[in-house]
Amino acid sequence: MPALPPADTLTVGFAHAAYQLGAEFAARRHPARFFEVRTLDALRSRIAEADVLVVSGLWRNDLVQTAGRLRFIQSISAGTDQFDRDLLARSGIRLASAQGANERAVAEHAMALILSLSRQLHLARDHQSARRWRPMIGERDRREDEIHGKTLVVVGLGRIGLRLAGLARAFGMRVVGVRRRPDPSAPVDAVVPPGRLREVLAEADILALTCPLTPETEGLIGPGELGALKPGAFLVNVARGRVVVEDALVEALRDGRLAGAGLDCFHEEPLPPGSPFWTLPNVVVTPHSAGETRRYETNVVDILMENLDRLGRGEETLRNGLC
Ligand code: GLV
Repeated sequence: MPALPPADTLTVGFAHAAYQLGAEFAARRHPARFFEVRTLDALRSRIAEADVLVVSGLWRNDLVQTAGRLRFIQSISAGTDQFDRDLLARSGIRLASAQGANERAVAEHAMALILSLSRQLHLARDHQSARRWRPMIGERDRREDEIHGKTLVVVGLGRIGLRLAGLARAFGMRVVGVRRRPDPSAPVDAVVPPGRLREVLAEADILALTCPLTPETEGLIGPGELGALKPGAFLVNVARGRVVVEDALVEALRDGRLAGAGLDCFHEEPLPPGSPFWTLPNVVVTPHSAGETRRYETNVVDILMENLDRLGRGEETLRNGLC
């Protein structure tokens, strides 16, 4: 039996603060009606109309209580830690992630942060704002560096982690992956299970986090892990803020154990005005924008269209299906 009413009686809700998903969907000429909202309040007022909801950061689990028609959520984000999967399953609501939609963007962003830190572009921009032509640096360990021959440890060897590994290897880096189920055929120099994390941190010039937020990864990088890193290493986080113990990170950045960090995600977002990350000179902050790309709407609506077809045909298996 189809899991959704006939396509021409369906209502699809698009809920995102900025992305132009409604326009992209309209261009595909799907027979479903749709609405588009940009705030949580607007979503609350219209969710009861939706058979299908396309949403990411505006989702709150209590919305289920008023989502009487809802049968399917297409996540706009690749990470889906904001959804209570048990609750959705109990409520008869299927969920699919947008894995793949921002894979290239996030991997390229991580690489950009790595290059920015090693070439000190963040400091160059600071000097530019002050119209200061920085003199050449005599002290060798304060200078810009080359990433060729350096070791990158990538925690989370999913699609983003593997793509980052490929980019890093093209720059001549040695890549060590940390993965729950190590796959010896992964195109990296070594893969280890999380139990060996501290051991490989000692080899890391750069630690990149590309894993999902799960009970196993929450707080994975704490004082012990930061202390195990090679002195002078960089950290790049394009995963979720809660993978890192933030106080420990601030301390390691202040006392120089970490040379710098490129951070796209934080415990609290938007990053509060009082956060030390805004002013630490060795930190590059990006506003959870690693996944942004001009291709985003196209990529997500491709996944949505496929899943609407599958649900309409009564298929059990969804593209990127999670429950
Ligand atoms: C972004 O953080 C995503 O999960 O897609």
